[in-house]
Amino acid sequence: MMDIYGEISSLKSEHGALILAHNYCVGAVQDIADFVGDSLELSRSAASCGAAVIVFCGVRFMAETAKILSPDSIVLHVNEFAGCPMADMADVSAIAEYRRLHPETVLVAYVNTTAACKTQVDICCTSGNAEQVIASIPADKEILFLPDANLGRNLSEKLGRKMSLWPGYCPVHNRILPELVLAARAAHPEAELLVHPECLSAVVQLADHALSTGGMLRHVRQSEKQEFIIGTESGILHRMRKENPGKRFYTVAPEPLCPNMKKICLEDVLYALRNLEPRIELDADTMSRARIPIERMLAIKS
Ligand code: 13P
Ligand code: SF4
Repeated sequence: MMDIYGEISSLKSEHGALILAHNYCVGAVQDIADFVGDSLELSRSAASCGAAVIVFCGVRFMAETAKILSPDSIVLHVNEFAGCPMADMADVSAIAEYRRLHPETVLVAYVNTTAACKTQVDICCTSGNAEQVIASIPADKEILFLPDANLGRNLSEKLGRKMSLWPGYCPVHNRILPELVLAARAAHPEAELLVHPECLSAVVQLADHALSTGGMLRHVRQSEKQEFIIGTESGILHRMRKENPGKRFYTVAPEPLCPNMKKICLEDVLYALRNLEPRIELDADTMSRARIPIERMLAIKS
């Protein structure tokens, strides 16, 4: 009898499937994936892979982005209950109303938004390319950044660019408080402190670097430092430890865990490959309108 790894591998070949996983997935899921990355890297991978079936291990907005960029593929969102609460903090009708009231404002949507919300905005960004996206907007234009007020504020402070901010936030990163970060610093005085730009501005100001998950992974590979405090969802430590066996990694306590990313398990991947369900289904109009701001983002060099 085949074990779960054997069955996943044989169903993958049978269906011409590619498994994509986010850096926050549990280690067992990352280890069976063909590609593990941050939101930007996963979007690029979905756009270029040409696979008949994309098995997506991440939260819903990421799987929707994969479907929008690869509309001819069957995109399986292996755990349909894995959503992103921040993405649900922006509502399509409220964005449309903002647009009606502020027709000259450029609407920049973090990729952590629903496909429906993306139909209402001018350009998307991820934490991996947000600086370049904001820099591409003419200086005389007003900007609304949505839905993550922390990321928007951090960008605004770094780039010296005024922006209106939607009042959304990531519940996981919002709980990484300055006093917790200072306690981690005191416990590991030699360590470099890396945080995600979804953290509070007071936390970003304490950090050595604020980087996307992909940016953190590149940074620790290249750094001469041996110890790192990681201020983001702790699933990322799996890859960090695997790729840097001699280096030491610490989380901020209490350990930041995204309950939605943690829902995704190997059994979900197996179920999805056996049944070719659950699929991301979006109507053609939503996909073609949501594709515009995503493609504008992907056209920007970062
Ligand atoms: P990254 O694009 O940096 O992987 O971040 C995605 C995310 O949801 C962070 O909470
Ligand atoms: Fe959403 Fe936060 Fe989870 Fe990222 S960590 S998927 S922003 S809830």
